[in-house]
Amino acid sequence: YNNPELNMKNWKINSWRKYPVKHIPTYDDEGELNSVLNKLKTFPPLVFAGETRHLKDQLAKVVDGKAFLLQGGDCAESFAEFHPDNIRDTFKVILQMALVMTYSASLPIVKLGRIAGQFSKPRSAPTEKQGNIELPSYLGDNINAIDFNEKARRPDPKRMYKAYSQSASTLNLLRAFSKGGFADLNKVHLWNLDYIKKSPQAKKFKDLEDKIADALAFMEACGITSDFNNRLYTVNFWTSHEALHLPFEESMTRVDSTTGEYHDTSAHFVWIGDRTRQLDGGHVEFCRGIENPIGIKCGPTSKPEEIAKICEVLNPKNEKGKITLISRFGHQNVEKFLPKLIRRIKKEGLNVIWSCDPMHGNTIVSTTGFKTRPFNNVVNEVKNVFGVHQSEGSYAGGLHVEMTGQDVTECTGGARKISDADLSSRYHTHCDPRLNSDQALELAFLISDEIKKNSSYSKNAIQAAS
Ligand code: PEP
Ligand code: CO
Repeated sequence: YNNPELNMKNWKINSWRKYPVKHIPTYDDEGELNSVLNKLKTFPPLVFAGETRHLKDQLAKVVDGKAFLLQGGDCAESFAEFHPDNIRDTFKVILQMALVMTYSASLPIVKLGRIAGQFSKPRSAPTEKQGNIELPSYLGDNINAIDFNEKARRPDPKRMYKAYSQSASTLNLLRAFSKGGFADLNKVHLWNLDYIKKSPQAKKFKDLEDKIADALAFMEACGITSDFNNRLYTVNFWTSHEALHLPFEESMTRVDSTTGEYHDTSAHFVWIGDRTRQLDGGHVEFCRGIENPIGIKCGPTSKPEEIAKICEVLNPKNEKGKITLISRFGHQNVEKFLPKLIRRIKKEGLNVIWSCDPMHGNTIVSTTGFKTRPFNNVVNEVKNVFGVHQSEGSYAGGLHVEMTGQDVTECTGGARKISDADLSSRYHTHCDPRLNSDQALELAFLISDEIKKNSSYSKNAIQAAS
């Protein structure tokens, strides 16, 4: 499989500028914007090419049904919520979710944060009205500020410096946690957050801790300990965000001196949003030239033939691990849209990871006026997606969630039965409602049976085919 028409001949780091682009801010002072971008080009890369290649290798295993992808974090990171405890707690919950999934699926989990760079947001309306006042919408902390006044809402290029610096220190802490002993399997009991200890998930997680402790004791008796095996002591944790703000992404894109290839060094993995995946648009053009693994969000308006074509453009060599299709149809729309998409991708023989985002198709407004997502609908979308993949004979290989380690009240339902009236108590998100750590862990437990079925099913399917 190779399409000779598609080659890199016409790609340049800035060739996206010749194409129409959506959701990129206009700045008043172009001179100031360019001086910020030029300065960013001289800043150190946040990730390096070898890491990105390593992640792609891990993702290739997901394509083959030998691993599972867990991607999670804030909808939008913010300057206001920047705090080491918040980074630590989100990291802890992702580790806990991954542990639950590893245990049930007996598969390695590729852990990918929506973190250390997830700042820019596509908004459904360009302006926001409060009373008689209409102002430009909030576009993410690296562009403008959330406060409702004219000055705050003016795009300010200098905010990119602050976002870069927050990303760098977030990543630094994540690297320390991943490699410095915090992720040691002997310390799983320390990952529990204080408030989760009192939660309905605590007992289930404690049972899992005990089983892991037994397994580790057995392994230790056999001489396998974290002193000898790095795998028990460290984890690989990768970063991702939406490649929305192309001027910023361009300025973080560098040539890898060992291969001559371009890497977007702002994150290991980037994705193209549901609103910016036009085939003739600048976002697809930019992403076709970088080596990073790329996600493509697929919503109800995506046509299967267009998604297939985008895959070809982004991945002309049909490399495994390069493309992750992230479906986000809404819990009631899965059966309507997903089978057609799967069939088309299969027919073209395209290698993709099938990931499920059960958040973005399930956003509603609560009776109390908050943007929210009912937990049951989130769970149902995941279950429906797994069901469709089983009947189509494809491997459901990933989960993409908006979540936080904080005890927020943004999504309704879950074991603590958050109601519409409860939402106002701790509603902190700068954009979409996130699962709190209790709901995130509950989701991992609730879908663990599906993951188990799915992985044994796909193992059988792969065996039968070979
Ligand atoms: C997001 O992931 O925050 C997002 C905006 O998603 P989508 O592009 O799928 O709407
Ligand atoms: Co979102």
